[in-house]
Amino acid sequence: MTSKIWGGRFQSATDAILEAINVSIEFDKRLGPQDVRGSLAHVAMLAETGILTREDAVSITRGLEQIRGEIEEGSFVFSRALEDIHMNVEARLAEIIGPVAGRLHTARSRNDQVATDFRLFVRDTIDDLDAQLADLQQALAEKALEEAGSVMPGFTHLQSAQPVTFGHHLLAYVEMIGRDRGRFRDARARLDECPLGAAALAGTSFPIDRDFTAARLGFARPTANSLDSVSDRDFVLETLSAAAITATHLSRFAEEIVLWTTPQFAFVALSDKFTTGSSIMPQKRNPDAAELVRGKTGRIIGALQALLIVMKGLPLAYSKDMQEDKEGTFDSLDSLSLCIAAIAGMTRDMSVDRVKMRKAAGAGYATATDLADWLVRTLGLPFREAHHVTGRIVAIAAERGVGLEKLPLAEMQNVEPRISQDVFSVLGVEKSVRSRTSHGGAAPSNVRKQAKRWLRQLEKERN
Ligand code: ARG
Repeated sequence: MTSKIWGGRFQSATDAILEAINVSIEFDKRLGPQDVRGSLAHVAMLAETGILTREDAVSITRGLEQIRGEIEEGSFVFSRALEDIHMNVEARLAEIIGPVAGRLHTARSRNDQVATDFRLFVRDTIDDLDAQLADLQQALAEKALEEAGSVMPGFTHLQSAQPVTFGHHLLAYVEMIGRDRGRFRDARARLDECPLGAAALAGTSFPIDRDFTAARLGFARPTANSLDSVSDRDFVLETLSAAAITATHLSRFAEEIVLWTTPQFAFVALSDKFTTGSSIMPQKRNPDAAELVRGKTGRIIGALQALLIVMKGLPLAYSKDMQEDKEGTFDSLDSLSLCIAAIAGMTRDMSVDRVKMRKAAGAGYATATDLADWLVRTLGLPFREAHHVTGRIVAIAAERGVGLEKLPLAEMQNVEPRISQDVFSVLGVEKSVRSRTSHGGAAPSNVRKQAKRWLRQLEKERN
């Protein structure tokens, strides 16, 4: 017999290579608090149903509580020889309370145990991420309110398109993050079922009470199918998918920060708190945090891919492949948490050069659409024809090297004789942006309303 917990039918020790590939304690020790929580609920149920005596349950509970304390204060000694977190906790329990520790694993398997621990972990982490995302929305909405009237160029194809305001741009991210939070909420609602009691794969002949353990652990209900309970990792996949989409959103903002802080754009500046220098070029101010948010999105997306590939084609029920679910998940969710904090920090830190933005908004004939709209509204031209006329006027202005608002009326009338002095009333960038009052449009009055709506909603959530 070997010294392993599962070693009853084994004669000789395992190969060092097997140990090396099999061991998970270095990373799954992170599930220590969840593992103890799961075991506390399980033992309470075993006592409640009479499967264990009250006396044994009390001693197991006492031992588990001591272990919880040891994990919290960092004195718990994790052993590689004990493979994973479940066996580490069980072995320590035996050290503390003796052979009665062996009764804890009645009507349970590591398969339903790890499924339960990981669900608890993912659920806790979703709650933490949601609070962080709400804080990021708060930072963005506050900034948006401050910058509701700050005119900036809006881009398509990264070419000046039409003037918008910086506040409007920031609120676009508040909307995206709102949907990201919705995706995490959906994932959380679907994962809110307790697999504990599915045992190895088939359930158990002991008269367990799965509603009891589910309620104890704060789950909405127990899972319905024992095979599904131990084979399902789509709760992780869904969470990693929500993380990947969120990171993708953050990476777009990160890229814009990188762009806007270049001397060529100089729309915004980060303080020394969020800027690094170059070891060779004394003039450099680098937005490393923004670049790293952009960069870390790679590993966050990668974690989703990696687990999809692990799960693909895996037969029911539990296979050891599934132990590969943890490292990528920890890394993805840790990285995302850092990225959210970094973006929130930079949002609060950034100072906005309104003059520079306003000037850029006027460049590149960004009010050409306003001219075309004026031709439609005032002269009754079909939009396609107005588009054409405007194009010719823009070409003349470009040739003269002046903005549309500086082009003499006579030059415009050479293209379309009915154009009157009134056209100049729509050619300034402020006028253009103020006119965008359609639902969801960029007008400062809209932006103020929307920013306040979000701030009210976030305030309500906090109470
Ligand atoms: N460490 C394992 C994991 O994370 C726990 C479940 C192991 N179950 C088993 N039958 N070997 O997946």
